[in-house]
Amino acid sequence: MIEMEKKITIGVCVMEKKVKCGSEVFSAPMGQILDRLQAFGEFEVIHFGDKVILEDPIESWPICDCLIAFHSSGYPLEKAESYAVLRRPFLVNELEPQHLLHDRRKVYERLESFGIHVPRYALVNREVPYQELDYFVEEEDFVEVHGHRFWKPFVEKPVHGDDHSIMIYYPSSAGGGMKELFRKVGNRSSEFRPEVRRVRREGSYIYEEFMPTGGTDVKVYTVGTEYAHAEARKSPVVDGVVMRNHDGKEVRYPVLLTPTEKQMARDVCIAFRQAVCGFDLLRCEGCSYVCDVNGWSFVKNSHKYYDDAACVLRKMFLDAKAPHLSSVIPPILPWKVNEPVPPSEGLTRQGSGIIGTFGQSEELRCVITIIRHGDRTPKQKVKLKVTEEKLLNLMLKYNGGRPRAETKLKSAVQLQDLLDATRMLVPRIRPGRESDSEAEDFEHAEKLRQVKAVLEEVI
Ligand SMILES: Nc1ncnc2c1ncn2[C@@H]1O[C@H](COP(=O)(O)OP(=O)(O)OP(=O)(O)O)[C@@H](O)[C@H]1O
Ligand SMILES: [Mg+2]
Repeated sequence: MIEMEKKITIGVCVMEKKVKCGSEVFSAPMGQILDRLQAFGEFEVIHFGDKVILEDPIESWPICDCLIAFHSSGYPLEKAESYAVLRRPFLVNELEPQHLLHDRRKVYERLESFGIHVPRYALVNREVPYQELDYFVEEEDFVEVHGHRFWKPFVEKPVHGDDHSIMIYYPSSAGGGMKELFRKVGNRSSEFRPEVRRVRREGSYIYEEFMPTGGTDVKVYTVGTEYAHAEARKSPVVDGVVMRNHDGKEVRYPVLLTPTEKQMARDVCIAFRQAVCGFDLLRCEGCSYVCDVNGWSFVKNSHKYYDDAACVLRKMFLDAKAPHLSSVIPPILPWKVNEPVPPSEGLTRQGSGIIGTFGQSEELRCVITIIRHGDRTPKQKVKLKVTEEKLLNLMLKYNGGRPRAETKLKSAVQLQDLLDATRMLVPRIRPGRESDSEAEDFEHAEKLRQVKAVLEEVI
């Protein structure tokens, strides 16, 4: 390994609220990951800060080898683009494609051009609010856009990616009405409005087929083309009640991506040239569809993910700026040197969603169990073989005299007949149990007694 003369500089050119550094257990993911990157000793992290980003000319912005830059509200994306043109740092997420992410139409178009499945959709573009459009028809149970019909339930999304007021309209056969989804407000993420039947007309919207997913969204978080973490959450469509655990965090379920979905994760990364990219998958009838691409997004509250993301980003930076340096992961991660190595360290180094592999250690992919509950009520039946004439005659009496046919005795009179016959057959004294035949007789007599007892109870 060649000695490093100087550290690789990583510029963090993002709005300050996106970088909360600190050592608390659950501080913001960006701080957690940058702390880990710094712990490798190969990098120097330079925070630009809001003042520099918003007020200073790009010529006086710090110079760096690699740049983490992404849009969030109030961010001067064009200014950051000019800086990138001027200094040519290695960009984790490229800047120009970030413009696409604000327009759902462009997101879908880009996804489709990369062969990534999206729900069937159509665009309704208005230049002014309430503009009448000859290609748009609304009937009670469907809308038609350029002759393409969308039956209710369908989804209506504002074309602006930052507008999260999404509406689902239900068919009249289900009572009609509309459900509005919105960004979480306390414990609510959607509200049903039974009186709303007409779609919105004040802006431009995407209409798309409602994909039944069984009530879960799959959130995918990539770090480069070879790594993706996925987790499932309850969809806001279900009942609008956000499920939280005792820490107040939204409940998440582990998910394994299928090989096709892993390929989709790679394709999303490449299509938008965003190494760190979050997107939403809808799993519906054996296929997966991307319904939303969010750009830069880290998984929250997962130390495993923080470790993985730091390792993947480190490799990315070294490959780009110091390919002569080994990007092999050290056997003990630098931020863990003082921690006792748990016996499962080999396993924890492999992510559940890792597409490629870092090492040769094994990875637990799934646990399959077959479980059957044990508190089943036993069947209330008794089987006994009868040869007694009284019982055989009873059978013939009620089945029309056919010796091989079945008989069902159900009425009170029939059951009384059966009880009378059984009473006569139950021996007064209990047979012995010594020999085999005696044991059989004993068992038979016990069963007759049981039949008698049950019949006496029900008649
Ligand atoms: N075509 C569809 N069929 C069924 N459900 C859908 C569809 N499109 C969206 N949804 C549901 O609506 C939710 C919000 O949709 P989407 O992710 O497109 O909106 P968003 O406001 O951009 O979301 P985010 O908060 O992730 O940025 C999804 O998580 C999913 O549960
Ligand atoms: Mg979404």
